[in-house]
Amino acid sequence: MTLFSGIKSEILPGVKLSPIRHKNRQSSCDGGGGHMAEIRSVGVVGGGQMGSGIAQLAAVNGLEVWLHDSDPTALSKAHQSISSTIQSLVSKGRLTKVLFVPVLADPLDFLTDNFLTKEKGAEAVRMLKYTSSLEDFGSVDIVIEAIVESEEVKKKLFTLLDSIVKESAILASNTSSISITRLASATSRPTQVIGMHFMNPPPIMKLVEIIRGANTSEDTFNATKCLAERLGKKIVCSQDFSGFIINRILMPMINEAFHALYTGVATKEDIDAGMKLGTNHPMGPLELADHIGLDVCLSIMKVLHAGLGDSKYAPCPLLVQYVDAGRLGRKKELDDIEAMSFISLN
Ligand SMILES: NC(=O)c1ccc[n+]([C@@H]2O[C@H](COP(=O)([O-])OP(=O)(O)OC[C@H]3O[C@@H](n4cnc5c(N)ncnc54)[C@H](O)[C@@H]3O)[C@@H](O)[C@H]2O)c1
Repeated sequence: MTLFSGIKSEILPGVKLSPIRHKNRQSSCDGGGGHMAEIRSVGVVGGGQMGSGIAQLAAVNGLEVWLHDSDPTALSKAHQSISSTIQSLVSKGRLTKVLFVPVLADPLDFLTDNFLTKEKGAEAVRMLKYTSSLEDFGSVDIVIEAIVESEEVKKKLFTLLDSIVKESAILASNTSSISITRLASATSRPTQVIGMHFMNPPPIMKLVEIIRGANTSEDTFNATKCLAERLGKKIVCSQDFSGFIINRILMPMINEAFHALYTGVATKEDIDAGMKLGTNHPMGPLELADHIGLDVCLSIMKVLHAGLGDSKYAPCPLLVQYVDAGRLGRKKELDDIEAMSFISLN
């Protein structure tokens, strides 16, 4: 078996670009070659920042959606925010304007010409059901898991889901960094487990990163790719190594920004302004960490550190201390109006 693609880099002649052949590129959404039926219903687990955005996105795109959260307060918050967002989309007549717009540097860049009519808004609300019981996931075609970034907790959930969902259902994880192969090993259907990594906020960001575990089948990949495209996303494919593409590169940058602050290289304002104006990023790395959630950033750094075994991925002590102190960023602010976001720390 050939493991090396043999493709030569234009930039560094002689350097092989990929150690593993990517066979993800060809697939068809018209069912060509695949045996898996089209995805019509979705179960989303976790009604936090990501799960509620994914559920909303799926519902406005005409899919039947169940949203579950083990915390009743989180579930009711998700219900309220999704309903009011859909309502505001209807009143503004725009499909992609969502709750999270203030996060973006220039939200208008992300608006499209799509309209959410009153009828479509009502249909989306009707398509989305909220449940405190996973037993309601019995008939869904795919589950997208968006709970806490912990391998242990996710594995327990995958084992449970495996015993609830129908035989043909796909189990997808929105994990930022955790091994899909290991999550799949907690189920009896490793060929039907895949990484479907949405960016934050899911209704707006254009990308879904798809990660195949060691045993993910071609049918599972094709069905997931078709779903992402139906939701209006572009995809990139990553092999199953800690952090995949996006967080393998993004999180060490955020961690380094914390190191710069920690060691007194510059103020938080200058670190963010430097990266925004100097490298044309829409927001600085510290501000971005604030939006992602410092707890999520720390969990991802721990996965990179453990999974890649290199001390360069060790989390910055300042990031650890903020999380220990419960300073998680904007998500905390949403819970408690008095809570301080990262921007106001120091
Ligand atoms: N925050 C981001 O920018 C971002 C971006 C991409 C991917 N992700 C990934 O998405 C996932 C969720 O992140 P988030 O930022 O939405 O987190 P969050 O803290 O906002 O939400 C997580 C939700 O999951 C619920 N939950 C926890 N354990 C559960 C369980 N066993 N069963 C059911 N519900 C449970 C919690 O009550 C909470 O409402 C993580 O894996 C994260 O790494 C996050």
